[in-house]
Amino acid sequence: MLFKSLVRPVMFTLSAQDPEIAHHWVIDQLAFASRYPLLLKLIEAASAYKSPALGRNLFGIHFPNPIGLAGGLDKNGLALPALAALGFGFLEAGTVTRHKQPGNDRPRIFRYLADSAMINRMGFPNDGADEVAARLAHLPRPSIPVGWSLGKSKITPQEEAIDDYLYSLRKLYDFSDFFTINVSSPNTPGLRTLQDKEPLDRLLQAIVQETEQIAEMTGRVTSKPVLVKIAPDLTEGQMDDVIEVCLARNVRGIIATNTTLSRTGLHRQSSEMGGLSGWPLFPRSLEVVQYLCKKLNGALPVIGVGGIFGPDEAKRMFDAGASLLQVYTSFIYEGPGVVKRINKSLVR
Ligand SMILES: Cc1cc2nc3c(=O)[nH]c(=O)nc-3n(C[C@H](O)[C@H](O)[C@H](O)COP(=O)(O)O)c2cc1C
Repeated sequence: MLFKSLVRPVMFTLSAQDPEIAHHWVIDQLAFASRYPLLLKLIEAASAYKSPALGRNLFGIHFPNPIGLAGGLDKNGLALPALAALGFGFLEAGTVTRHKQPGNDRPRIFRYLADSAMINRMGFPNDGADEVAARLAHLPRPSIPVGWSLGKSKITPQEEAIDDYLYSLRKLYDFSDFFTINVSSPNTPGLRTLQDKEPLDRLLQAIVQETEQIAEMTGRVTSKPVLVKIAPDLTEGQMDDVIEVCLARNVRGIIATNTTLSRTGLHRQSSEMGGLSGWPLFPRSLEVVQYLCKKLNGALPVIGVGGIFGPDEAKRMFDAGASLLQVYTSFIYEGPGVVKRINKSLVR
């Protein structure tokens, strides 16, 4: 209540010219809080909803609840303990690339409040795998599972994409409970072509093999799970290819979906380039989750994301067969209360 009536209007007004101002402010505050255990306890007491009934076990990891933060909010992993304290069941950090890069010119995030939507063309601004890993070594670890999302650096030629991902994977291995291979952002030229059958097969084979080798070298019985995040703009044939490759290469789950290039459901005219997220995306992300779950028939878990704003959308995603969910845009528009509301409804 307080978030929508007070916090949001102030933040959105102050960042009207460039929504990213609000984004950095929030991450800065959460990064500050992350350093103080007592502050984290207070945040947790005010925000988190806990119940043993919410726990899920998936690919060898225990998730205290099934509602996670989607990739892209904490790109450098600066605020993970405070985000955990807000009540999420898991966090996806990143997307990180091998090379530090500035991303596209600002403004590159656009809010469409009446449609509960956003368009972004961030282009993976991040500090690069070396700097992020060096910093993480000195930051407190969050109390819930964290997966790092890996992407391709803009300057890396398409033919060298695999090495780019492998570099980041090795750097972030010790800080990750699972990895998400992001081949679905619309804002890095050529990235989405990595979803095509042959390039995807080569990429995933190399990445899963690398995790298996690291597990062997470090004396672990199982390797860290690798998930793939896909776009909502794939045809059924393309999704069939993704499923075939994931099953063949021992990928442990599919995250569906990233932002869309479609503008269906956006009522305000917009010529901004980038990916659309939020409420207008929900019908399509649900359709994709439904399709994947039906085809997979339990062979792999699916994590549903895209336009989930509350208990109704969450229920429909779970009914479609999703094992876990993630939110991003609703967290911006509704605040952390969205996680609590969904979790409460699940226990009920
Ligand atoms: C500003 C912004 C930045 C994003 N950055 C990333 C990213 O770096 N990596 C990624 O996998 N997804 C990224 N996403 C996509 C979200 O993780 C999510 O898949 C998408 O927004 C749909 O969920 P939502 O409707 O709950 O926002 C970004 C989304 C937004 C709005």
